Amino acid sequence: MAGNKIINLVLLGPPGAGKGTQAKRLIERYPLVHLSSGDILRAERSAGTELGQAVKEYMDAGKLVPDELVTEVVINRIKKELTEGRGVLLDGFPRTERQAKDLDAELDKIDYKIDGVIDLDLPVELIVERMAGRRSCPQCGRVYHLQANPPEEDNLCDECKVELIQRPDDKEDVVRKRIDIYEEQTAPLREYYKNKGILYTVDASATIDEITENIIRIIDRLLEN
Ligand code: AP5
Ligand code: MG
Repeated sequence: MAGNKIINLVLLGPPGAGKGTQAKRLIERYPLVHLSSGDILRAERSAGTELGQAVKEYMDAGKLVPDELVTEVVINRIKKELTEGRGVLLDGFPRTERQAKDLDAELDKIDYKIDGVIDLDLPVELIVERMAGRRSCPQCGRVYHLQANPPEEDNLCDECKVELIQRPDDKEDVVRKRIDIYEEQTAPLREYYKNKGILYTVDASATIDEITENIIRIIDRLLEN
């Protein structure tokens, strides 16, 4: 990253917009730590923790996990990275106005802020199609798509060589529920960040490469300022 400037970014966008896909590419280019609240919660579930048990029913139904279960855990992870000198690339957090405000307040206490919000804009028709073909690595979280971004070997992660899985919340009826909840509770965050002058909207119906290029242009500009 230019100089030692630490920047913090949010990837905003509906289910299937490509937040995880783009994050994995961006962290290869920039010294940012990818923090996906969904991945954090799925890891808690796999480890069978109390939190993991508590969030299961919400996640599988496509509902948001209550703020009081998710905010503290994610913000603690963010603070840990920042105090160790690394900027963060947030994926799936914040997702409600309450989460966004709590995040701002906590960052402010340690003299950091969110520098840019990349809003991946995708029409609803394309979301369901993307989710149906998604497969993910249960070990590293890397995301594939049967048609648009297949693994090199059939159903195996390119990196970890473990069997890819389909997420339980990718069933069509659950996806539709997640889209409704996104529109209701998360989409208003665009206005929240627009009012702060840090919202950058990218057309997420383009190819994976084109989207990455557009995001790189935005991040490079943020790093120059
Ligand atoms: P989370 O894991 O965050 O899910 P999500 O936001 O619904 O987003 P996805 O991970 O489904 O999509 P993505 O944008 O990462 O797309 P991807 O890159 O995989 O959250 C899951 C659940 O956890 C929530 O429902 C909730 O219960 C809970 N939760 C998490 N955070 C929370 C919070 N802050 N508060 C409360 N609850 C919370 O891409 C999708 C597919 O499309 C892939 O197959 C990919 O290969 C393909 N693809 C990507 N880009 C392209 C492209 N340009 N062209 C063609 N195909 C593409
Ligand atoms: Mg994701």
